Parts: sequence; structure tokens; C-alpha cells
Amino acid sequence: MRITIIGTGYVGLVSGVCFSEFGFDVTCVDKDEHKIRKLSLGEMPIYEPQLETILKRNIKAKRLKFSRNINSAIKKADIVFIAVGTPSRRGDGHADLTYVYDVSKEIAKSIKGYTLIVTKSTVPVGTGRKVLEILKTQNPNGEFDVVSNPEFLREGSAVQDFMRPDRIIVGVESEKAKSMMEKLYRPLYLLETPVLYTDLETSELIKYASNAFLALKISYINQMADLCEKIGSNINDISNGIGLDKRIGSKFLHPGPGFGGSCFPKDTQALLKISEDFGSKVSLIEETINYNRLRKEKMFQKIIEASNNELKNKKISILGLSFKSETDDIRDSISLEIIPKLILENAYITVYDPAAMSEAKRVFQDKIIYSRNVKECLSGSQIVLILTEWNEFRSLDPRQMIKWMDGNTIIDFRNIYNKINMSSIDINYISIGKKLNNY
Ligand code: UDX
Repeated sequence: MRITIIGTGYVGLVSGVCFSEFGFDVTCVDKDEHKIRKLSLGEMPIYEPQLETILKRNIKAKRLKFSRNINSAIKKADIVFIAVGTPSRRGDGHADLTYVYDVSKEIAKSIKGYTLIVTKSTVPVGTGRKVLEILKTQNPNGEFDVVSNPEFLREGSAVQDFMRPDRIIVGVESEKAKSMMEKLYRPLYLLETPVLYTDLETSELIKYASNAFLALKISYINQMADLCEKIGSNINDISNGIGLDKRIGSKFLHPGPGFGGSCFPKDTQALLKISEDFGSKVSLIEETINYNRLRKEKMFQKIIEASNNELKNKKISILGLSFKSETDDIRDSISLEIIPKLILENAYITVYDPAAMSEAKRVFQDKIIYSRNVKECLSGSQIVLILTEWNEFRSLDPRQMIKWMDGNTIIDFRNIYNKINMSSIDINYISIGKKLNNY
């Protein structure tokens, strides 16, 4: 089968590369000429562990190509994936489907012979049906079906999530389309990956319901952390204690500064809008969104208290700029909330992140100091902020960190040092979900 993926953003690129690894002939299309040229040379436009090796291997095997010519790529395809961006629409939080509908018109113009059109981007309930309408209107005699096949890829573990998914969700409404989707995912049958076939709208809603529940779970454990700080309980033990209940599960119970990234903030907003549009508001998600926003704003308070509200000219060092570890993505990261406030306080800010430095430079330019390593970042510092849970930071010894520093305050927004007994160290260690200095 020949596959065409339209859109080489995060979802499209990972899907195209991994489908070629399955052995299919894949053409990835994008309007961005520079990106297509880089990709054709095997150069990665994003930081994603393992992806570059698979990309190069399949370009070499001539199974994976990149093109700007959307029409010829559609014409030769048996399956066309729509993997273009669906950003939050300015002002109202709905998903902006302009790119999806524009591409659907291109597909209607260019398909030749029976073609399966698959929406891979996260799209609101009813989008697949709208794409079908566009195709029928633009190409009344065309032979095609529309399928929904949402992805559940996490940045930083996308290849693993694609190759070993917990499940495949397929919204499909014809036997022919279903048999093609079965063939597409046959390489996963060896893993006995569950495949759920349902209708278009249900498939689209499963994606939002899944992401929003994960966001809710994070806001829940963060609210428990707030309660622990008042009571003097230990949030890490709470996470472990409830996570051992198999009905709850231990994943996504790590307290932190609030969720970020390009998905949870966007998808929770979109689900809330969808629920309002259909007159059945999911108020739990409204609270998840509001609480998460307030939490991120509140995190700065920890820094104000730790510095006795004297930040002017103090050296503040930040370890971690990305919204989570194993990615260079800083979208909706807590660093974007905290750094501007530190700049307003006229603090002297040094930062270090294993992957996100160039992304951060684009935002903060010369307003902060970019360090080459942890030691340089921490030297002479009064306060250190741990904002992202990179393994490189987990392996640091707080005793050594304090030797590099001038002060002795470490604010650990990810509780990565929670297992270390700090009572024997001359340190002012502040973390999430514990009473101050409760080690
Ligand atoms: C998410 C979903 O996990 C994925 O299935 C979907 O396809 C896309 O959106 P992603 O946004 O890449 O993936 O990252 P994820 O690992 O889910 O983390 C999202 C945010 O939640 C990050 O800011 C992370 O720091 C935070 N988080 C995650 C927590 O604060 N605690 C946790 O226990 C887990």
C-alpha cells in the first residue's frame, strides 16, 4: 500500500517515519520547502529520541520520501493521512480547522481511484463527517471513504508510543475501509495490540476524552499536593498509595507545576467547547483548565517566599526550560510563566536545559544568560529552580550543587530529589506537596 501523509509536524512526521518502518511506501508532504529539504537529507526538524535513526534508515531503503507536491503525492496514494495542525482558535478555544478543510479540498481535486482519507490530527467531534461532505461536494464521482485514526503519541516517547501503542482507535464506516486499516496495522498484530473499531464521532471523542482525563488526573494530584502542604502530609506517598490501586494506576500522578505542552492545554479547551456546543458541559474539565492556570501563576509565589521577596540583582539559576523532559518543546512550559516574572523583578537569570536552549533563545533573546552546563549555570547562584525533570538533573547531588552556589536554596518543582534525605545537608530545600523542610 502507498501512503501519503499531509503535514510533517510532530504527528505527521512520526507517523510517516514509523509507517515506512512497517514496510509501507510513504510520501510525507509539507508546504514548508526548507523543512522538506532538510527532511529529504535525513535532517531532523524536531528533537525526538530514536526518530532520526529510523528516518535515515527508511530514506536509504527508498520507502520514505518527502515532497512539496501535494497533488502528485495524493494521486499515487492508496491512503492519505491528514496530519496538519489544528491550533486553538484565537479567543474562543475551539480548534481551528482551516488547514484540515483546505487539505480536504486538495485531496478531492487530486485523488485517483479508490482512496482512503484518514484524519490523524486531533480534530473536534464531527470533523470527519465534514471532511466527507467536502470530498463529496468537490468530487461527486470520486471513490473514497473517510476514517478517523487519532494518535496518542507523547513528545519524547513518540516512536515507542507508535510502535507499541496501548491500543489503536479506528472510526470507520465501510468494510472496505476497515479491511485497509487492518492491513495497515497488521505489523502490530504480533504484539496483539487491541484495535477498537467504532464510528467516526466516537473515535474523535475518544481522543479528547483520553487527553482530558489525563489532564484531570494531573490536576487532581496537584490539588492533593496543595492539601499536603497544608496538612504536612507527603504527596509522593499519596501518589504511591493511591496509584497501587489498579483501578487508579500509578501513571500521571507525579505532582508538578501544572501541565503544559501543545496538547493538554489545547485539547482540554477544545473538549470544553465541544461539550458546550452540544449542550452537555464537562465542568470537570473546566475546573481542570482553571486550576492548572492558577497553579502555574501560584508557582512564582514559592520563589517570592524563598527569597523573602528580594529578587532584584539576585542570581537565580533555572534548570529545565522544556515543558517536560526528553523534548525541546517549551510550549506552555512553566519556564514561560516564571522567567518573565523574574525579569520584571530585575533578577539575574541563568538557564540550562539539555535540549531546549535554542527554543528558549527565540523567546527570551538576551534577557537571560544561557549556560553551557549545570555547573556554569549554578555557580554563584542564590536560588536554583528545577523546572523540568531531565535525568541529567535527577543524577545531581544537592551537596555538590550547593558547593557551586553562593546561597543554599533549591526549589524543586518536580520533586526529583524527594528520595534524598536532606536533613544532614545545610540546604533550604523546597519541593511540591510537603510541609516546608519536611524531608
Ligand atoms: C500528551 C498525551 O500524553 C498524549 O497521549 C497525546 O497524544 C498528546 O498529549 P504530551 O503533551 O507530549 O502527550 O506529554 P505528557 O507526557 O502527556 O505530559 C503533558 C504535561 O503533563 C507535561 O507538562 C508534563 O510535565 C505534565 N505531567 C505529566 C505532570 O505534571 N505529571 C504527570 O504525572 C505526567
